[in-house]
Amino acid sequence: MKNAITAISLIVLAASAASAQETTWSGSIKGIVEKHCLVCHGADSAPEYPLFKKEKEKWLTKGQGMRMDSYSHLVSFVGWPNTGAMMRRLDDGKSSKDGKPGNMYQHLGSTESERQQNLGLFKAWIGNWSLKRWSDTTKDDLIGIKVLY
Ligand code: HEC
Repeated sequence: MKNAITAISLIVLAASAASAQETTWSGSIKGIVEKHCLVCHGADSAPEYPLFKKEKEKWLTKGQGMRMDSYSHLVSFVGWPNTGAMMRRLDDGKSSKDGKPGNMYQHLGSTESERQQNLGLFKAWIGNWSLKRWSDTTKDDLIGIKVLY
């Protein structure tokens, strides 16, 4: 009996430790995006992606990107249809072929340590940090994507 109780408490402990480590959109990523990205990717001023593509020059002149204000918007730049876009743009150069950071990395924070910390959270949230485009992406790459809500 005592052993059974010990075993159960260990399982409960392990389960709560695992869930405490999970990085979620609602717990971590939403706040980063609100603080650092929505000035250019917010619902009020930025268009849906296809609209942005259609009138790219117009939006670029305004300094606006495409909408990324919700969970659903954000994950479409991770898995599909814009496979790997989030990773290519946010990478600090450690995973890119040319060793250069993506052009959105600079927005992750005002200091290098803040940028690294927020990049770490994005990496933990996404899981499989693959910079590949859709044509090179494998089923295993997709299975490795976590993006918890
Ligand atoms: C100063 C404005 C600005 C800020 C702040 C900004 N972005 Fe952007 N972003 C843009 C613009 C404009 C584009 C479109 C031009 C381009 O492709 O570089 C873009 C493009 C992107 C793309 C590429 C989407 C695609 O598939 O073409 C991603 C991903 C992205 N941003 C993510 C982010 C994230 C995440 C943040 C916050 C850490 C962020 N951006 C902060 C202006 C900004």
